[in-house]
Amino acid sequence: MNFNRFSDQVAIVTGGADGLGKAMVDRLTSEGATVCIFDYNDRTREAAVAEFAERGCSVGGSTVDVGDEASVRQAIAGVVDTYGRLDVMINCAGIVGQTNVKAVEYDVDVFDEVINVNLRGSFLMAKYCLPPMLERNYGRILLVASIAGKDGNPGMAGYTTSKAGVVGLVKGLGKEYAESGVTVNGLAPAVIQTAMVDAADPAMVKYMTDRIPMKRTGSLEEAAATAAYIVSPETTFNTGFVFDLTGGRATY
Ligand SMILES: NC(=O)c1ccc[n+]([C@@H]2O[C@H](COP(=O)([O-])OP(=O)(O)OC[C@H]3O[C@@H](n4cnc5c(N)ncnc54)[C@H](O)[C@@H]3O)[C@@H](O)[C@H]2O)c1
Repeated sequence: MNFNRFSDQVAIVTGGADGLGKAMVDRLTSEGATVCIFDYNDRTREAAVAEFAERGCSVGGSTVDVGDEASVRQAIAGVVDTYGRLDVMINCAGIVGQTNVKAVEYDVDVFDEVINVNLRGSFLMAKYCLPPMLERNYGRILLVASIAGKDGNPGMAGYTTSKAGVVGLVKGLGKEYAESGVTVNGLAPAVIQTAMVDAADPAMVKYMTDRIPMKRTGSLEEAAATAAYIVSPETTFNTGFVFDLTGGRATY
């Protein structure tokens, strides 16, 4: 594929040090974007930035905890100060919390932590990326949700609830900014093999994979290609929508 849809554009990808986020950074830079990775894991973030630099890609990084308001606000201001623009924000940072644990045994502190990162983090990233985008009447915001938030997966109350919240946030913000030139969409993947899936209980992963009609997990490249389409300048008539990435599991 020889697209160059993001030349001259500046993007932030949270969680871009690993997994889906890193694959999305790869795709955006390969199409000309300058990307800033926001991730709280300094070791993997620095390694990812070095790896991209070696390949001649324009990638920087900041230590950011997406659940921390001051950290988010300062890092976004830093990107806008440095580059004078912000075109794309993909919020891909996320944690899974406990899996294969019934609600009656689910740890309340873990529930709070998962909501803080996955849902509050999505809100904070959108809240502070919107102003510089609105100022230029252009922007693409993509919040990574999950099929868990649409269908509900048992045994992962924190994760399922947080991702349902992200789906609601996408729908509300999409309508709120529909006339502004800034689109807000979501992505709901089923199982894509990453460190997060490695951290989940194997019985849970089997439950989720068994429900994919294509009878396989998704690839990082498939996730990155779909994300790049959603945040590209050519995608102009979609907002407030949560795109499916489930090999046919979700039919709505
Ligand atoms: N892998 C899947 O099957 C799958 C399915 C559905 C949805 N998702 C979603 O996709 C996103 C990426 O998942 P992944 O599988 O690539 O996970 P991953 O664990 O491979 O990568 C997540 C990245 O986010 C970073 N991160 C976590 N918490 C953070 C925080 N508070 N602040 C900043 N960075 C933080 C991690 O350091 C890591 O680099 C998540 O939102 C996840 O819920 C993944």
